[in-house]
Amino acid sequence: MKRILLTGVSGQVGHALQQQLALELASEWQIVACDRQQLDLTQPEHIRRTVREIAPDLIIHPAAYTAVDKAESERELAYAINATAPGVLAEEAATLNAGLIHFSTDYVYDGAKDALYTETDAVNPLSVYGASKLAGEEAIRRVGLPHLILRTSWVYGSYGKNFLKTIIRLAQEREHLRIVADQYGAPTADTAIAKAVTELVTRWHQEDVTQSGVYHLVNSGETSWFGFASEIVAQYRALESVRGWPPLVVNEVQPIAAAEYPTPAKRPQNSRLCTAKLEQTFGVTLPEWSVALNQVMAELAV
Ligand SMILES: NC(=O)c1ccc[n+]([C@@H]2O[C@H](COP(=O)([O-])OP(=O)(O)OC[C@H]3O[C@@H](n4cnc5c(N)ncnc54)[C@H](OP(=O)(O)O)[C@@H]3O)[C@@H](O)[C@H]2O)c1
Repeated sequence: MKRILLTGVSGQVGHALQQQLALELASEWQIVACDRQQLDLTQPEHIRRTVREIAPDLIIHPAAYTAVDKAESERELAYAINATAPGVLAEEAATLNAGLIHFSTDYVYDGAKDALYTETDAVNPLSVYGASKLAGEEAIRRVGLPHLILRTSWVYGSYGKNFLKTIIRLAQEREHLRIVADQYGAPTADTAIAKAVTELVTRWHQEDVTQSGVYHLVNSGETSWFGFASEIVAQYRALESVRGWPPLVVNEVQPIAAAEYPTPAKRPQNSRLCTAKLEQTFGVTLPEWSVALNQVMAELAV
């Protein structure tokens, strides 16, 4: 049986992938799921030892340093986890003739483009986090093994900490919410990512290195953080009595400019990613973001 080493299983995407891979691929693949104890990404020698012991045919690597604002003051740690570790994983995978599916981010772009980003557009990260993720991409490319680098955006789900959970909590506590309305992108459900990646595992032929490279993988459509928050509140209200959820006290979601909500890390104004390459190469598409949100809400325990 072929073997997948999956990292970051306590994270949103890793958790969703662990479930989806077990559901769909358990008859063909043995899934070895690692958390921080089993695979510490700050320790290159630990990474090498663990990969050699597991001897996977494919590494799927969603684990990352994802604290975007904190990264501004923890540059070294962010680079150790997001830049050095993917390079080490790639080197070990190459030695084993294994492939690597890695995750990256819309934050590699500066957001100045006035249209959807394609994978060939210039990168220019605005934050330490974005720069560290880009350095991880480059480290994998340098190794030159069969790989997919999947740039995703605005990840949320029913598991872990994320914008969806924060908005529900705030809307239960406050009458008035102020949400940034001039940054645009696609909220992407962890479960939608997991389904798409599971399809990619079967459709991506590792031997065909011409398919290696960067792909955008996000739910379709676009909105702002304000649009996302408003839709969360609307979908919650539509479900609250059926599900017996605590009622929301919020009575106004107010759109504000990003300039009114300063954060340590600068974020791109335009995070909209074109997914045509993923669809044309692998026939993989993700649902519209509000449909994906509806599916996540159906699973949500509040
Ligand atoms: N979240 C987003 O909005 C977003 C947007 C664009 C791209 N992405 C990318 O998508 C991927 C998945 O993100 P996510 O939202 O699933 O992240 P997440 O929920 O923050 O999970 C991160 C995972 O990485 C693990 N990790 C962190 N430091 C580690 C270390 N030193 N050693 C081993 N494991 C470590 C965490 O383990 P612990 O639980 O032990 O800390 C956790 O399992 C990442 O590559 C991220 O950069 C995310």
